[in-house]
Amino acid sequence: MFFKISILAGLISQLLADDPYSCAGTQTINPPANISNSISYPSNWQTSNDAPQYAANQNCTFTVNIPKGMFVFLQMKATTDPSSILTMTDSTGYQNIIKMTSLEPYFLMDPSFTVSLQSVKSGTFAMSMTWHNVNPTFPTTYQVHPNSTPLYLAGGDFDNSTVIESETKVNLLALPPTLIITDVTPYLRNTQVYDGPSTDSKHVGNLYQIVANGNRFVSSGKYLTLWSLIPGFANIGNSVILQDYFDVKDFKTYKPINCLLDPCKVEIDARTGTAAAIRYNPAYFFVKDISMPETNKLSVYTDFVTPAHKLADYTSSISKTNTPQKLFGRFNTFVLNQDQAVITLFFDPEKAGWATAVDSRRGFFMSPNYALNSSNQNINDKVSAFSSISNISYTVDRSAISGAATLNVLITSKQKVVVNNTFSTTNFPGGNEWTVGDTISVIYNSNGVSTTGAFVSFGFDHYNSATTNGVLISTALAIWIMFSS
Ligand SMILES: *[C@@H]1O[C@H](CO)[C@@H](O)[C@H](O)[C@H]1NC(C)=O
Ligand SMILES: *[C@@H]1O[C@H](CO)[C@@H](O)[C@H](O)[C@H]1NC(C)=O
Ligand SMILES: *[C@@H]1O[C@H](CO)[C@@H](O)[C@H](O)[C@H]1NC(C)=O
Ligand SMILES: *[C@@H]1O[C@H](CO)[C@@H](O)[C@H](O)[C@H]1NC(C)=O
Ligand SMILES: *[C@@H]1O[C@H](CO)[C@@H](O)[C@H](O)[C@H]1NC(C)=O
Ligand SMILES: *[C@@H]1O[C@H](CO)[C@@H](O)[C@H](O)[C@H]1NC(C)=O
Repeated sequence: MFFKISILAGLISQLLADDPYSCAGTQTINPPANISNSISYPSNWQTSNDAPQYAANQNCTFTVNIPKGMFVFLQMKATTDPSSILTMTDSTGYQNIIKMTSLEPYFLMDPSFTVSLQSVKSGTFAMSMTWHNVNPTFPTTYQVHPNSTPLYLAGGDFDNSTVIESETKVNLLALPPTLIITDVTPYLRNTQVYDGPSTDSKHVGNLYQIVANGNRFVSSGKYLTLWSLIPGFANIGNSVILQDYFDVKDFKTYKPINCLLDPCKVEIDARTGTAAAIRYNPAYFFVKDISMPETNKLSVYTDFVTPAHKLADYTSSISKTNTPQKLFGRFNTFVLNQDQAVITLFFDPEKAGWATAVDSRRGFFMSPNYALNSSNQNINDKVSAFSSISNISYTVDRSAISGAATLNVLITSKQKVVVNNTFSTTNFPGGNEWTVGDTISVIYNSNGVSTTGAFVSFGFDHYNSATTNGVLISTALAIWIMFSS
């Protein structure tokens, strides 16, 4: 959207251009005596005008000074043909290559930034700069710890500066805005990143740069500071995920998953080593499909990556039978050991096809906060066979039955109850069980008690009526983990 607008603006400005101007040489631009006034290049250019045309074959460099305690709001209008190069380099040395822009916002820190144009053919260029005094900040401090739930903060949380304190280092992942009617991602340049405990620490860039490079930022010490120069951009809906580096140090690459629409394809590339991608999502979603070679393994974890929080391992051979899978948990992390994988995610249960199982299907029902101590763990869900009848098996493998919490597994056939097992502290579940039916329902009720929730695996297989008459058979001993309340 943003690029479409800038293309149109660029074409119009070329059509209306006057004689091309010359800017050759090096120019220094200092703040005006009265910073209420903006400075433009060429002078008298206004942001509502089209950008004037510059001449071919000239090199121009503008150095714009920013005194300490100020920042500059920069907007450019430009179109450069592929043979010419327009760049803007900020105070951290980050280089923005500009092909076409129409008033995209830049927020620039002291001591200076440089705009440089190497023109081979003629194009258009103009810029407007406004100096602002930085506001005083009243920082809020958050802590992240090893072996802990990640910290999720939203854009508005940085308006007064936010300091994150870790025990090892701070791992920062940044997500783009959720507002998508127009591209507001460039406003993430408003939020500055400092490698240390305050806004006086080393300035290392902004959230836009972290989103654009698609990878993480790790602090050099225990602290990281985030600060939005201009408050009030909370409504664009950007966010960050913060963790103690200890929890994510084994990942060669690590990125956040940004899904706003169905379907959402997530690519994970572990060709250089273990790769991980984390998703923040307060409700459930579905893994619809996993596509990967036969050589690798994709593991899914809830909350943070630790053996006790593993939900499933997927290999190429089971990736079709074990999906779609409904996942809960505020955070889910996908970890790939090698090669590449493409995971397709959905929000919509119907489009994902969660509730209908063909024979050979495997999956699990999980509590909303499974593996965490929470009173919000209730499950009330069901999956039905695609064919009229299947061999339905289940294992209550990792569920907290404590205090008043109860778990009910119901298997029905043409709406008639075949199995109705209610588990409680006085009736613990057994191992893998199977029967013949068309629907499995799982109801977990924590009854107000805080528990680590329930996890019930299920399977649908072709039922061969010659083998048995469908009596419930307990086949294995309980793989039972008891959680004391
Ligand atoms: C600074 O410029 C603004 C806007 O042009 C004007 O209103 C204000 O009076 C000026 N301040 C001084 C001290 O000249
Ligand atoms: C502009 O700078 C480039 C790179 O330094 C150089 O190759 C080119 O000849 C220069 N062009 C002009 C017109 O000075
Ligand atoms: C920052 O905190 C100060 C002190 O609590 C408060 O007065 C001010 O309004 C806050 N500013 C923003 C942008 O939230
Ligand atoms: C779980 O949370 C409850 C309520 O917050 C608390 O009373 C209980 O001690 C916790 N249990 C564990 C095992 O952490
Ligand atoms: C039903 O499925 C279970 C679990 O896969 C298996 O152990 C059992 O033998 C199957 N029963 C029949 C009749 O196929
Ligand atoms: C299952 O059994 C429980 C009690 O054990 C009962 O309350 C419930 O109504 C039964 N469900 C169905 C569908 O029969």
